[in-house]
Amino acid sequence: MEVNNSVAVVTGGASGLGFATAQRLAANGASVVLVDLNDEAGVEAASKIGTNSRFIQCDVRNPGAVESAITGAYETFGRIDVLVNAAGVGTAGRVVGRDGSLFDLDLFKFTIDVNLIGMFDVLRHVAGRMAGNEPNSAGERGVIVNVASIAAFEGQVGQAAYSASKGGVVGMTLPIARELADLGIRVMAVAPGVFATNILSMLPDKAITELENRSVFPKRLGDPEEFAQLVQSIVENPYLNGETIRIDAATRLPPR
Ligand SMILES: NC(=O)c1ccc[n+]([C@@H]2O[C@H](COP(=O)([O-])OP(=O)(O)OC[C@H]3O[C@@H](n4cnc5c(N)ncnc54)[C@H](O)[C@@H]3O)[C@@H](O)[C@H]2O)c1
Repeated sequence: MEVNNSVAVVTGGASGLGFATAQRLAANGASVVLVDLNDEAGVEAASKIGTNSRFIQCDVRNPGAVESAITGAYETFGRIDVLVNAAGVGTAGRVVGRDGSLFDLDLFKFTIDVNLIGMFDVLRHVAGRMAGNEPNSAGERGVIVNVASIAAFEGQVGQAAYSASKGGVVGMTLPIARELADLGIRVMAVAPGVFATNILSMLPDKAITELENRSVFPKRLGDPEEFAQLVQSIVENPYLNGETIRIDAATRLPPR
C-alpha cells in the first residue's frame, strides 16, 4: 500500500516510536491521527507534524474512549488505511520479591490491559472501518502494524507481565492476519530491541550503557527513525503478512 495519500492512525503517537512513525508517514504524504493518553505531548506532537495531522486524546484501556477516538479519526479524514498500534507501558516487578512480597496483581492486569487488550480494542474498531474501504489495485483495504517487543521471546527477570503482554501481541498476529485476509487487510507485528525513547527513562544511566553494550552491531540503542523506516516498508510491501519482525541489532538479552 502506498503511504502517499493514505490515512494512518498511530496510537502512542505523542512520543517515541509512535511519534517517529507518524512523522515519517506524514513526511511521505500520509494524513495522520495521533491517539494517545498524554494530552500535552499529543497536542505538541501534532503541531510539530503539521496540518496533515490531528491529535485525539484517549486511554486505550477505556472501551468507550477507544470507540469514539476511532470514530473521530475516521470522520476527520474520511477513511483509515493504516494502523500503527504503538501505545504501551513498560512495567517491572518480581514474582516473589527479595522481601517476600508478591507481584502486584493490579500491576499485572494494568500491563495486559494497556499493551494487549487496549491494542486489540483499537485494532477491532479500525479493522471494522477498513472493511468499508474500496480495495486498491492489489486488493488491499488496510495494513495494521502492532508493536510487540523482543521481551516476547527473551523476557528478563522482572518482566513477567510485560513479556506476557507482548507475547500476546505476537500470538494474535497470525490468527488475525488469517481472519482479515478475506478483507484484504494485512496484519504484522514488530518486535523492537532497545530504542532511545521515554520508556527507558526509568532506567539509570549505568543500565542504559549495559543495554548498549549488549547490542551486537551496531553497538548502540536503536534510533526511533530506524523503527519508523521498518513500519514504512511493512506498509509498502504487499507480501509481508502474519509475521513478527525483530529490529534489534542482533540483541539477545540475558536473564538479568
Ligand atoms: N523503546 C524501546 O526500547 C521499546 C522496546 C520494545 C518495545 N517497545 C514498545 O514500543 C511501544 C512504544 O514505546 P516507546 O518506546 O515509544 O515509549 P514512549 O513512552 O515514548 O511512548 C509510549 C506512548 O504510549 C502512550 N500511552 C501509554 N499508555 C497509554 C494508554 N493507556 N492509552 C493511550 N496511550 C498510552 C504514552 O502516553 C506514550 O506517548 C510500546 O508498546 C513499547 O512497549 C519499546
